[in-house]
Amino acid sequence: MKAIEIRNKFLNYFKNHDHKIIPSAPLIPVNDPSVLFTTAGMQPLVPYLLGEKHPEGNKLTDYQKCLRTNDIDEVGDNRHLTYFEMLGNWSLGAYFKEESIKMSFEFLTKELNIPVEKLSVTCFAGNEDAPRDDEAARIWEEVGIPKERIYFLKENWWIAGEEGPCGPDTEMFYDTGKPKCSEGCNPDCDCGKYVEIWNNVFMKYFKHKDGTLTELKQHNVDTGLGLERMTMLLQGKETPFETELFEPIMKKIEELQKVDNIQSRRIVAEHLRASMMIIADGGRPSNIDRGYILRRLIRRMIRHLNKLQISLNETENLIDLNVDNLKEMYPELLENKETIKQVILEEQNKFVKTLEHGEREFFKAANKAKAEGKDVIDSETVFKLYDTYGFPPEVTEELAEENNIKVDMEGFNKLFKEHQDKSRQGSEQKFKGGLAEQNETTIAYHTATHLLHEALREVLGDHVKQSGSNITTERLRFDFTHPQKMTKEEIQKVEDLVNEKIQEDLPVTCEEMSYDDAKKSGAIGLFTSKYGDRVKVYTIGNFSKEICGGPHVTHTGVLGKFKIKKEESSSSGVRRIKAVLIK
Ligand code: ALA
Repeated sequence: MKAIEIRNKFLNYFKNHDHKIIPSAPLIPVNDPSVLFTTAGMQPLVPYLLGEKHPEGNKLTDYQKCLRTNDIDEVGDNRHLTYFEMLGNWSLGAYFKEESIKMSFEFLTKELNIPVEKLSVTCFAGNEDAPRDDEAARIWEEVGIPKERIYFLKENWWIAGEEGPCGPDTEMFYDTGKPKCSEGCNPDCDCGKYVEIWNNVFMKYFKHKDGTLTELKQHNVDTGLGLERMTMLLQGKETPFETELFEPIMKKIEELQKVDNIQSRRIVAEHLRASMMIIADGGRPSNIDRGYILRRLIRRMIRHLNKLQISLNETENLIDLNVDNLKEMYPELLENKETIKQVILEEQNKFVKTLEHGEREFFKAANKAKAEGKDVIDSETVFKLYDTYGFPPEVTEELAEENNIKVDMEGFNKLFKEHQDKSRQGSEQKFKGGLAEQNETTIAYHTATHLLHEALREVLGDHVKQSGSNITTERLRFDFTHPQKMTKEEIQKVEDLVNEKIQEDLPVTCEEMSYDDAKKSGAIGLFTSKYGDRVKVYTIGNFSKEICGGPHVTHTGVLGKFKIKKEESSSSGVRRIKAVLIK
């Protein structure tokens, strides 16, 4: 079965079981300040898991585009991916363990025809916070999983980050038929015999910043099934790279390579797909946050193209091939093909220059060391080449070898690790902010964003469209289409208009309606193709009307004073405003 068939079977199964199919949210979260990328299907649904009413009802299903970057350096082995697709179904206080487990079991055994003998499951073993999940185990036994293949593990608990909705989970495992690696081999073991295929989280709790748990008034179910992995297993393949999702590009790379290296082929194939998906959803390379991750993905891909000795003139052809292969699953790749090419090729050109520059710096360092009578380049220099010039350490190592000089790689690795720990702490910090960090301040900024959007349209014209937004507890950032720098007068006018609307203390109201009615009513909105059939429209007095998931303040008077701090270019044809609310 092909990946797209598995996806369609999944969505249809849940549709036939009373779920509404909702569209995948973009990879780049809309109005979520706390995460760089969407990492799980539940992420865009957090407000609804916490009790807000979803316009499509309380049983939902979707495929969600996800990106996880913790394991970026592991890509190249036989299983790690950064980009992946998660199939999910949700109960927002509708059903709980019994229905959820029964549906999962039926889908796996009847729709995907996985023999029961191939399935093992794990349930939560219990701890001081929550009891052992005997109920889930009982239901598994009832549907037909024998007791000896039901395991209890302490790890069966799921939360995104450190704060937010969470609960015990039950995981389903596929037995690949490989022999047990030891007597005690079980689904918890990493040897490859058991592969996790689906995770059902019983989201009954909310974890607070201080570590305490409280019970949510609504008991939810959140599930996630990794599409690439399921495709691989059903096709009897050892790695996702052998499935139709990657096979054409892997084959092409193999044809083009002059040096054989399977890890490099996988890295090129994986990072190219991930970069294309990010760019199609509006991401652009930069030196910070998600832009930096995209930059790293593209650069790593290029390094491995070099390693395989494939001409960089081929990049464009590889993009064409990938668009062609994946366009049925992701039409956005075809729609954005030219942009994808432009962004990747521009980054490639920059990186080629970086490499040239780094090479010059390398020779300076090598000559200096030699002149000083040393036969080794010290670790600080290697690190500087890497950190300042973006020069990959393995290239430094290769060049050193060619030039009969050593490099202190051990020292470099130590510096690199220190650096990595620091940046990991940084990104964990980001995540810690929490998916659920929708507090008074961020909600106020969210409403201010709507006022700003409309004010820009009134002052600059209707061509202004939101192209991105990011909110923290400190400020809002708003990207919009506009061909030139705003004048001082324009900035002042926009600021004044927003403050006027705050002072008028306009009521903020919300209505649910069909997407078509929302459009007819003149509501503006972002990502037009990404909405479901039913949407929420937030109206602020008679000033602004916008399709949006919320939440918002109830009247604008509470926003305080609005101040534009900065107006700058974001990318070509896109301007960026940073603004604050002063209480
Ligand atoms: N949110 C759960 C996961 O990502 C389903 O595994």
